[in-house]
Amino acid sequence: MSKTTLEQLWQKGTDFLGTEVAIMCGAMSWVSEANLVAAISNAGGFGVIACGAMTPELLDKEIEKTQAKTQKPFGVNLITMHPELEELIAVCAKHNITHVVLAGGLPSSASIQAIKKFGAKVVCFAPAIALVKKLVRSGADALIIEGSEAGGHIGPVSTSVLAQEILPYVRENHPEIPVFVAGGIGRGEAIVQYLRMGASGVQLGTRFVCAEESIAHENFKKLFIKSKAKDAVASVQLDPDLPVIPVRAIANKATQEFEQVQRDTSSALKNGEVDKEQAQLKVEHYWAGALRRAVMDGDVENGSVMAGQSVGMVEKIQPAKEIIEELINQAKSQL
Ligand SMILES: Cc1cc2nc3c(=O)[nH]c(=O)nc-3n(C[C@H](O)[C@H](O)[C@H](O)COP(=O)(O)O)c2cc1C
Repeated sequence: MSKTTLEQLWQKGTDFLGTEVAIMCGAMSWVSEANLVAAISNAGGFGVIACGAMTPELLDKEIEKTQAKTQKPFGVNLITMHPELEELIAVCAKHNITHVVLAGGLPSSASIQAIKKFGAKVVCFAPAIALVKKLVRSGADALIIEGSEAGGHIGPVSTSVLAQEILPYVRENHPEIPVFVAGGIGRGEAIVQYLRMGASGVQLGTRFVCAEESIAHENFKKLFIKSKAKDAVASVQLDPDLPVIPVRAIANKATQEFEQVQRDTSSALKNGEVDKEQAQLKVEHYWAGALRRAVMDGDVENGSVMAGQSVGMVEKIQPAKEIIEELINQAKSQL
């Protein structure tokens, strides 16, 4: 019997992305800029620019910088609640971006259609089967399922459970839709496991933070190298009336301060100083500022060091190409 090769296992993913390997580097605010994105794509993977809170003008420049560094395909990750989402989509259209990832909440059909109109493929996060149906109906071309082991903002369900729930469902009902699995993947053996379950590829974030090409501050990288899986903890919601999206980060002063931010925001909410939406935005702004402080300024005590549980498998600073090669070799050894 002939062996299944890695190329066969993830062909739907590589065809969809237009890459050699179906490994996406998930967008990471402040980290996933032109240097890292281009390095990942030049190494055969798929880099994704993190637009985050960037203005359309800044995104325009970031795309230009990335295109100057790579001829290979890469994507742009847009946050659905960005107040200038339409303008950001127009910037992607101007640069003929081939893939747009919509993150941070359920995207509207209008946003999905606006992206498809200029010929790009739309990738959406699917946290549950009910949303898979809705997203596919709205026109999503591919899905990412991201488990709670991941770094940054997370959902409540682990990668292994999401994979068991969603991969067979998509294979059965929407076999044309590629699904990329994210959250807690640090080695190639795990990639093979998800591909065998029906995934078309994977998305990693944490494992790429210490790429040589990543501009993350050296303090940020050093803390990644030092940290173990148990150090990357999820934030806890303190007030049932103030829903906050949990964030996984290395425990430090910032993770403690976040509890105070929640307490202050929830009393402001109770006193009627802010409404629920403003309160949630305030909480989100806290994270954006805190992440910048750690990634850019290197303040890893008071800033937010967002990291997934796979941080324990980050051992050194190495070129993006070497990280991808390691993952491939581990995957191949498993086949
Ligand atoms: C420092 C950091 C920042 C992140 N920022 C974003 C972001 O801005 N937008 C987003 O969609 N995902 C963000 N993520 C999630 C990644 O894109 C990716 O899905 C995740 O890291 C995959 O799980 P892993 O960390 O276990 O590899 C971030 C992750 C990290 C570690």
